[in-house]
Amino acid sequence: MKKAEYGFGIIGAGNVAKLHAEAIEQIDGAKLIGVTAIPYEAACAFANKYEAKAYKDINEVTADSDIDIVTLCTPSGLHAQQAVTLLNAGKHAIVEKPLAITLDQADSAIEAANRTGKKLGVISQRRFDPAMVAVKSAIDKGLFGKLVLINGHVHYYREPSYYSSSDWRGTWKMDGGGALMNQGIHAVDLIGWFGGPVKNIYANARTLHHNIEVEDTLAASLEFESGALGTLEATTCAYPGLSVRIELIGEKGTTIIEDSRIIYWNINSGVECPELSVEDGIGGGGSTPMSICAAGHISQFKDFIEAVGNDSRPAIDGIEGRKAVEIVLAAYQSSRTGSRVGFPLIQAVIC
Ligand SMILES: NC(=O)c1ccc[n+]([C@@H]2O[C@H](COP(=O)([O-])OP(=O)(O)OC[C@H]3O[C@@H](n4cnc5c(N)ncnc54)[C@H](O)[C@@H]3O)[C@@H](O)[C@H]2O)c1
Repeated sequence: MKKAEYGFGIIGAGNVAKLHAEAIEQIDGAKLIGVTAIPYEAACAFANKYEAKAYKDINEVTADSDIDIVTLCTPSGLHAQQAVTLLNAGKHAIVEKPLAITLDQADSAIEAANRTGKKLGVISQRRFDPAMVAVKSAIDKGLFGKLVLINGHVHYYREPSYYSSSDWRGTWKMDGGGALMNQGIHAVDLIGWFGGPVKNIYANARTLHHNIEVEDTLAASLEFESGALGTLEATTCAYPGLSVRIELIGEKGTTIIEDSRIIYWNINSGVECPELSVEDGIGGGGSTPMSICAAGHISQFKDFIEAVGNDSRPAIDGIEGRKAVEIVLAAYQSSRTGSRVGFPLIQAVIC
């Protein structure tokens, strides 16, 4: 049954949690009830800022009957197990990307959502950017014709302190990978959304600059089931940090998107580039993760609330979120083995 107001809880009080709190504040019918983090003092400071409660741990969150939906803003290696805890306790869960860092973990979260009937959503807010929505609609209308090349390039720069100030970033155990699993996954998700299922991937992952155990640079070549080819590039070494760039090249038209802007559009039928206000977009996180705005999270939270109210599927549920994780893990497997890797990927452990 639809509620007039949905109570939100947040787990984690770091960088992205601020975007979540801002997004919840800006949605009619959503209210932040409380937050938990480690240490508890961090939860208290966050709760104070957003006029919410601070909880000692996730069990206090699940025990609060005012909370309907919980968003997970914790290190990636915790996402799936915390989602299962939330779903089992009867809460709906929105998990920051990636859904999980292994397929077994992803499947456990999907199974918990199916079993409990509670909704599971995975943040991939760039899908809600007006530029991406317009391009997806043009693809579905066939305006580009058959796509022949689908490229996603994430040439970011992260200061060494981005990794050294954190005990989880850049680790296999809690980040689940590097430039592709953490930063590049947005482009992975978009090219899969635009191009459909991937048939196989060949990748080289290297640690070229940062003092971390996971890759800081990855380049991959893909083949889609549609027959289209594509490339994926992700790095956190590209000073000073560039835009996310998505290129869609088709037999009837081509478009290039950088962050929230369509910078190139040429369709042989003469259909004009959609007029979009850049202010409505998310912006870019090329040089720092926190330069993006909450617009995408607001749209995705609204979609999720609709799904809860109507008992329908959120735009990006566990199944959708799993797809990007599978592509990332296949890229790592390819780099480790030196072979092209096909889908579906049968693999649970990444290192
Ligand atoms: N969608 C995006 O654009 C975007 C941007 C940044 C980060 N993220 C994702 O968000 C997640 C968090 O990233 P971040 O940069 O905010 O990290 P962060 O290190 O800034 O914050 C992590 C928070 O999790 C808390 N935490 C850790 N273990 C916990 C536990 N067991 N219980 C409760 N709280 C715990 C920490 O106290 C901290 O407040 C990552 O998975 C990352 O991939 C997504």
